[in-house]
This record gives sequence, C-alpha cells and structure tokens, in this order.
Amino acid sequence: MERLDKRLAATGRWSRKEARELIRAGRVMVDGAPCRASEAKVDECSPVLVDGEAIPDHAPVYLMLHKPAGVVSSTEEPGERTVLDLLGEEYRNIGLFPAGRLDKDTEGLLLLTNDGPLAHRLLAPKSHVDKVYYVEVDGALDQDDVLAAREGMTLGDGTVCLPAELELLSSNSAHITLREGKYHQVKRMMASRGKPVAYLKRVRFGPLRLDEGLAKGEWRPLTREERESVFRA
Ligand code: URA
Repeated sequence: MERLDKRLAATGRWSRKEARELIRAGRVMVDGAPCRASEAKVDECSPVLVDGEAIPDHAPVYLMLHKPAGVVSSTEEPGERTVLDLLGEEYRNIGLFPAGRLDKDTEGLLLLTNDGPLAHRLLAPKSHVDKVYYVEVDGALDQDDVLAAREGMTLGDGTVCLPAELELLSSNSAHITLREGKYHQVKRMMASRGKPVAYLKRVRFGPLRLDEGLAKGEWRPLTREERESVFRA
C-alpha cells in the first residue's frame, strides 16, 4: 500500500505538490471512485486514473537519443538494427518506443518513451509540435525555396503541406521547421524543388533540442525541466 500522492509523483509526471492539487480538485479516481485524500493508501493493483486516463504501471521513462544513420526507428524489425538495440539491457523490456519516426538514413533527436498517452498527444496532428531539421541538399537553395516553403508546398503526388519555415544557412544547407510529420516529408519537399536531400538531421522536437554533448548513438534521460516542457507542449 502506498499514499496516493506518492503513487502519482512516482510516475515522474507530477511533483508531490502538483499531485496533491490534482487530488484535491477531484481529478483522481481510485478503484472507480473519485478520491480527494492525498494520504489515502492505495493498493499497488488498484487502477488510478487522472482526468479519466490510467497512469502507467511502471514509472515512465523518457530518453533523448541521438539517432545515428543505419538504424531503424522501430522496436523490432527482422534483419535491421533498431533504436532499442542502442540502449542498455535495463531499458530493453520496459515498453519503450520512439515518439515519431526518422528514416533509416536520418540522424538526430528521437524521444524514446513508454508513456503512450504523452507520445500520442505529441504526435497528434492538432498538437502542431514543431520539428526542426538541419538539411543539406544536392543543388543550391535560394529565396524561391524559402517562399515556396512558407506558402505550403505541393508534393509530387499532389499532397499539400502546411507552411514551413526554411532558414538558409549556406548555398546548400538550411534549417527547416515543420509543424506536421508526413512520410519522408523533408525529402519529398526538397525533391519537389529539384534539390534532393543529401543529409538530414533532426535538431529539435517540440521544446526538446538535441543535446550536442550526445555523440551519435548515445542517449540520456530527459532532465526534469525537459520532461516538464514536453508535458506542457
Ligand atoms: N523528413 C524526412 O524526409 N525524413 C525524416 O526522417 C524526417 C523528416
């Protein structure tokens, strides 16, 4: 048996104080009934819901990975090295999965978590979580590309993209900010401009910035500030 506020705080999602406020506000249900007592003792097996959503069974984990090229963004794929293969043994069987995908040859920031509801919220189209990529192309980028991105590009198959921000860094490199995540989006956008992608790296995902201290293939848990910023996103 464990105090209700402690059980909520153990998820890493709320501080003890925030947990008490949620409980006092009647937003927490235990065994199907609202519970307004922070000190209530809760059985380990009792389902606890916050705003109608079950809190996870195991403490959620949030990792920032610097994905290298050559690994796939799935949890299992025969014949391929997956992002989970890069993690330590203790992280292999706790239900981690990547929140969103990067192509096999794309590098950069990937959030790995076992917090399904959070990943779902971050990836929902209406969340409009910004993703920023560093891109190098074969060819020369110019102001026409910037304007085309800003207007919302139409891809080869007629798909219309939301407006995106292209910030030129050199004649063949840029930062591109997307507010959506269509399949192979950056590559298809650049292809539609006749400037195929030569190199692609995600440097930002919502409020998270790729930690430049992480070498390719390295990962670390999100800091408390990063976790909180992701929950707010
Ligand atoms: N756009 C792409 O084309 N590939 C990625 O991996 C991510 C965004």
